Amino acid sequence: MDRMEVTETFAGMSLPGYLHTQESLRFASSFQFRDTDVVIATYPKSGTTWMQEILTLIRSKGDLEPAKTIPNWARAPWLEHTYFKDMLQETGEPRLITTHLPCQVLAPALRKSKVKVIYMARNPKDIAVSFYHFHKMAKFLPDPGSFEDFLIRFLDGTVQYGSWFDHVKGWLSLQAELGLFFITYEDMHKELGRSVEQLAGWLGCPLQPEAIRAIQQHCSFSSMRENEMVNYTLIPCEIMDHHQGRFMRKGTVGDWRDHFTPRQNMLFHKIYQEEMRDSSLCFRWLM
Ligand code: A3P
Repeated sequence: MDRMEVTETFAGMSLPGYLHTQESLRFASSFQFRDTDVVIATYPKSGTTWMQEILTLIRSKGDLEPAKTIPNWARAPWLEHTYFKDMLQETGEPRLITTHLPCQVLAPALRKSKVKVIYMARNPKDIAVSFYHFHKMAKFLPDPGSFEDFLIRFLDGTVQYGSWFDHVKGWLSLQAELGLFFITYEDMHKELGRSVEQLAGWLGCPLQPEAIRAIQQHCSFSSMRENEMVNYTLIPCEIMDHHQGRFMRKGTVGDWRDHFTPRQNMLFHKIYQEEMRDSSLCFRWLM
């Protein structure tokens, strides 16, 4: 199946032209947030869809109806995507807004409001693996080539959506100023119930234990994998080729071990340590 090779260049990175235009990107960078908005900021493959599902259910106080009837991209649309303006009418209150944009693009707009920002990060080795497999199925992304080639481009920051290192470091540099809530995929994997409780408390929507249990159950990997409102099976094969794999692929921590050679792992460590040496995450994800 043919790939949609059109890309948009913005803020020094390339983005899929299928989802972005210069107009949609300009609209995103000057968006007027409301104080009540909740923003999910992630680098792709960090668990964005998982967080969208959890926030949907915190907002509905554990009522599963919206999660079972409305696709995630309508409940928590991507600010930078071409369809954002249309979807925004449908998101409900408080508005849930998702973004993969780097912080320098959004910082001026975010500073003008008291919007709540959640930044979700994940072990970049697992992101590289997940992103590689996603490239195979997503026809709006370039052909990834071999895992080795893809990994080199990921480490160089020349993949679409730019450098993971710059993304994480940039958003973390705004943590104190924006009071952003930082959480990792691994934290959620370890203790989902506790993560949901913390998020709900931080959002000012404390939940009853039954609601937390319902959210925990509905947001398990096995349950989300079967929910067509989040597993992307609604997207036609010309855009996501479901014969090449599943969006809800494995949902595990440490899948990189089955993909990285010892040499690739050493190279990754070297670059990670150089890039992250001044970051609070410098010792994270080394194992
Ligand atoms: P894998 O490819 O490693 O399985 P994003 O939503 O940012 O694109 O991230 C997608 C990744 O999150 C995929 O990782 C997907 O399987 C994983 N994921 C989605 N929902 C999950 C859940 N409920 N539990 C664990 N992982 C989940």
